[in-house]
Amino acid sequence: MLQLRGIGKRYPGVLALDGVDFDVRPGEVHALLGENGAGKSTLIKVMAGVQVPDEGEYLVDGKPMTFGSPKDAHAAGVSVVFQELSQVESLSVAENVFFGRLPASPLGTVDRGTLHREARRLLERVGLTVDPGTRLGFLSVAQRQLVEIAKALSTDAKVIAMDEPTSALSYAEIETLFDLVDRLTEQGVGIVYVSHKLEELFRLSDRITVLRDGRKVAETPTTEITADELVTQMVGRELDAMFPRMARTFDPNDTPLLEVTGLTSDMVHDVTFSVHAGEVVGFSGLMGAGRTELARALFGLDRTKAGQIRLDGRVVPRGSSPRAAERGMGYVPEDRKSDGLVLVSTIRDNMTLAVLRRLSRGGTVNRSKERGVVRDAIARLRVKAHSAEVKVATLSGGNQQKVTLARWLIKEDLKVLILDEPTRGIDVNSKSEIYKLIAGIAERGVAVLVMSSEMPELLSLCDRIHVMRDGRLVKEFDHADANQEDLMTAAIGKGKQ
Ligand SMILES: Nc1ncnc2c1ncn2[C@@H]1O[C@H](COP(=O)(O)OP(=O)(O)OP(=O)(O)O)[C@@H](O)[C@H]1O
Ligand SMILES: [Mg+2]
Repeated sequence: MLQLRGIGKRYPGVLALDGVDFDVRPGEVHALLGENGAGKSTLIKVMAGVQVPDEGEYLVDGKPMTFGSPKDAHAAGVSVVFQELSQVESLSVAENVFFGRLPASPLGTVDRGTLHREARRLLERVGLTVDPGTRLGFLSVAQRQLVEIAKALSTDAKVIAMDEPTSALSYAEIETLFDLVDRLTEQGVGIVYVSHKLEELFRLSDRITVLRDGRKVAETPTTEITADELVTQMVGRELDAMFPRMARTFDPNDTPLLEVTGLTSDMVHDVTFSVHAGEVVGFSGLMGAGRTELARALFGLDRTKAGQIRLDGRVVPRGSSPRAAERGMGYVPEDRKSDGLVLVSTIRDNMTLAVLRRLSRGGTVNRSKERGVVRDAIARLRVKAHSAEVKVATLSGGNQQKVTLARWLIKEDLKVLILDEPTRGIDVNSKSEIYKLIAGIAERGVAVLVMSSEMPELLSLCDRIHVMRDGRLVKEFDHADANQEDLMTAAIGKGKQ
């Protein structure tokens, strides 16, 4: 149905795509896999007509397409759910779904009745229960993702490309999406599916194409390949165990560095726990269990009603993030786009913003020391960029994530670090590097808190894991007796406890 031949795309200093062939057949799921910066999103943008390649051919149903025309791509039945959501927060959900194609009444005004009826039908298909008239700005990231998928479904799409569609979805929403993909393929729709989660590719896809540095390295039927082989194709070499368990040294009999008692906000109820210097404590739970809300309350971003936070024996005033930061707390939020990543600045500036004081003497920054720190972070996190002077705006989604994380990982005067979904959008190969960095931070005596929806991540990283449900800590596991099934059972709150 869709054929791309010999696609090449060069950006200043980067060959994003190099002679890539890619096609989609009716009713199949063709997955696209590769490290951060491998060229996946660029290829999707070429399909959508929003990016003009330097060379290549594009056919839909055997007919040649002009590059760089989103309208043509759309008319030919190619629909795309982009990695970076492009939505208008001030418009309603329905208006976003039908953006640019609002149904008109005979009077020439927008036909609200039809608009809302059609939108409601599409929202039902993606399993989103919000009123079509709701302003998009009120929706969570997950809900917006579903709106984006509803938008893709709003035309008679023959091919739907989804760029990391599940990165912000909960388990239940992911299941709904998978069911939807199954139904679409049964109807003959071809799906292009980009994800870093290998288990999703194995569950959904018929073929997997791997990109490395803009080149297609392999295309294999899913039934004929293993996870290890895919990882090897992605990196070009074999990797050690993906989630190595890291042993840590801290004395559980020491006084904890961070002690939280009875912390209560609108969304968090009577939360009590402690973390030692050098310890990594995880927070598991379903979407909406209150992990992000707990992180925000701890860092003073949300108003709290009761409770106490003690750091190093001293009370941290509640409800003030500047005071929390002053006392040595760091927080990497789930939505890192809003975490002050300065898109127009360079990787170097973004990474060292928080540590300039340490790199300076008498008011001047030691540039060679700065370069060293940045070079090390870029190498360890495998940030794909041809230099540290590249603007962050031009990096791929995952590489932007890495830069934000690096900012905190290289900060040395931290006592407590709170990480919310530290590896969202990050490729499998870079994950273990990030885990090592987190372990390294703990080793320096920092108390680390990790909020994560990925249980394997918590199991490999954490010394202890708390399970949250409805804003409360419902169960605590020591690393030695934690396993995925028990974490899930506690999170759902059914059956054995
Ligand atoms: N507008 C741009 N200007 C300059 N370079 C760009 C631009 N867009 C993408 N690139 C570069 O092209 C390469 C491929 O990026 P792309 O976004 O396609 O990667 P990706 O495979 O989608 O990665 P991720 O998994 O992180 O989303 C990267 O090196 C990126 O920095
Ligand atoms: Mg991408």
